[in-house]
Amino acid sequence: MLLPFFVACKDNKQNVAAGRTDSLTVPKDMHTQSNADSISMKHLDLDINVDFVTKQISGRATWDVQNEKKAKRLRLDTYDLTIDSVQVDGIKTEYTLDAFVEHLGSALNIPVTETTSQVSIYYRSGKNARALQWLEPQQTLGKKQPFLYTQSESIYARSWIPCADGPGIRYTYTARVVVPKGLMALMSAENPQQLSDSGIYHFDMRIPIPAYLMALAVGDLRFKSIDKRTGVYAEPTMIDKAANEFAEVGEMVRAAERLYGPYRWGRYDALILPPGFPIGGMENPKLTFCTPTIIAGDKSLMNLVAHELAHNWSGNLVTNLTWNDFWLNEGFTVYFERRITESMTDKSYADMLWELGYQDLEAAVEDLGKDSKDTHLKLDLTGRDPDDGLTDIAYEKGAAFLKLIENNVGRERMDVFLRKYFDEHAFKTIYTEEFLQYLDEKLIKGDTALRNKLNIDAWVYGPGIPANCPRADMERFKKVDAARTAFLSGAAPATLQTAKWSTHEWLHFMRKMPRPLTADKMKALDDAYHLTQSGNSEIADLWFIMAVAADYQPAYPAMDKFLSAVGRRKFLEPLYEEMMTTNKQQMAKDIYTKYRQNYHPLAQMTLDKLVLNK
Ligand code: BES
Ligand code: ZN
Repeated sequence: MLLPFFVACKDNKQNVAAGRTDSLTVPKDMHTQSNADSISMKHLDLDINVDFVTKQISGRATWDVQNEKKAKRLRLDTYDLTIDSVQVDGIKTEYTLDAFVEHLGSALNIPVTETTSQVSIYYRSGKNARALQWLEPQQTLGKKQPFLYTQSESIYARSWIPCADGPGIRYTYTARVVVPKGLMALMSAENPQQLSDSGIYHFDMRIPIPAYLMALAVGDLRFKSIDKRTGVYAEPTMIDKAANEFAEVGEMVRAAERLYGPYRWGRYDALILPPGFPIGGMENPKLTFCTPTIIAGDKSLMNLVAHELAHNWSGNLVTNLTWNDFWLNEGFTVYFERRITESMTDKSYADMLWELGYQDLEAAVEDLGKDSKDTHLKLDLTGRDPDDGLTDIAYEKGAAFLKLIENNVGRERMDVFLRKYFDEHAFKTIYTEEFLQYLDEKLIKGDTALRNKLNIDAWVYGPGIPANCPRADMERFKKVDAARTAFLSGAAPATLQTAKWSTHEWLHFMRKMPRPLTADKMKALDDAYHLTQSGNSEIADLWFIMAVAADYQPAYPAMDKFLSAVGRRKFLEPLYEEMMTTNKQQMAKDIYTKYRQNYHPLAQMTLDKLVLNK
């Protein structure tokens, strides 16, 4: 296991110790207050109770540590945790909890000695635990049982476990979790496939992971197997649909392995969460968490699963050292995701995803400002919420940069390079400069012409979209553009050749539609394609945005229903935003106030600002 390094060390000895033989300065992770740079965190043993009445996780976290550098205290991250008591090697010990620091929480200081090997913290989670969403039964599909899930990335693990909460700190864990009888508990670990009669579950995660990959879900869940190593968990009424949608995931894992080497995590399962899940997916090891909004009935949104699967290489295996290097997690993952998708479908399909991604990149640059430092790949999130870095820059500019490299060196060399990159950095961390050096040593190798062509500095340390940004082939989208133009110049929808369109062709058709459309045109589209009733969340969301712009009222009841249940920020934000900017603030406020309690705290934060100006 790599020793975590946080203190910027110009000292070469430390670099050598970390397997870094160069003169790079290892950046400091500004988003953890822990001192895991002095004390190694080896293993976590959790013993917790999940109480749906008090909405609290409580219990004990025991850390096996090794105090190599003879630190006088262990410092851990906490966020809104109540500490009941602390034991060091079995003996009750005084501790201090520092003042709350914005975004970071309160550091917990525990005196230790050179020989300390075990530290136990008895604690309870608070009302403002940002990682936790407690759902009432009516917020689930089954409506009978409550549900809890965590979302720890980026720095929220500390709101349910006292821990050294930095992506560069890895440890193994075991857990005993007590939940109400009749509910199933799942973690980012070896998981049960059946209910436990006692409500007690044991977990074992023998592969070291960083805290942001700690995950727990508790609810009325069932399991269905896909193949020997893959399966899906969902609420009972969703499990068959989910299993159908996920039928090709086993093949997807094999496709990923053919590209960049073995899947090293044992089983690969997915958990379908209730619709309030605030994001699309989360790459929790062994168990990807997914929004139910990808279940479209035709597997057309499975690229999200390809994305979370790809994280088992880029992110979970090779992990960004700090959140400033987030593009190394997400940009690589988007690139890998599209390679998986291409191998499951064909180039023309992947090209559509590349083009939609490019459009997202343009929108992100427009939104952040073309000169904004937040449009650099390497970010500076010092003193800020790491979620500020959660933009399409990391995803799409990062992926486009890798695509540019591929285009220049050829796919074969690119794949040899990436495969080696994953192998050589497996279970280690990586930061931007270290990757650039690796790229230079292993791929560019003194080829000055290539180096100049890539213009790396413009990508990594410069704003906006560099001039050499690759663009995908528009083979399929050209036909979509032609259909849109024909429609706008009066052709009846029935005459357009849409029969073979996939979801992504529809998305392109709608994204580039002028807004607002006339009432007649909205009606014509709806009559022909039943967009108001679309069961595809991506299409529905875009259609509702068009409906708001055009004040096309027949879509409103369906939109209301959509907004009552779906909590995915990516859908909510642009839709409420469209209401706010087209003079429908009252409508936004009314709908949001009605459904606010159905949304995750993180989505609430975004929307409070947007809709309530809070
Ligand atoms: N790891 C991210 C989700 C994340 C990132 C949560 C940072 C919190 C902080 C996940 O892999 C992701 O990127 N999800 C996307 C999926 C999409 C790009 C296919 C999402 O949720 O929209
Ligand atoms: Zn991701």
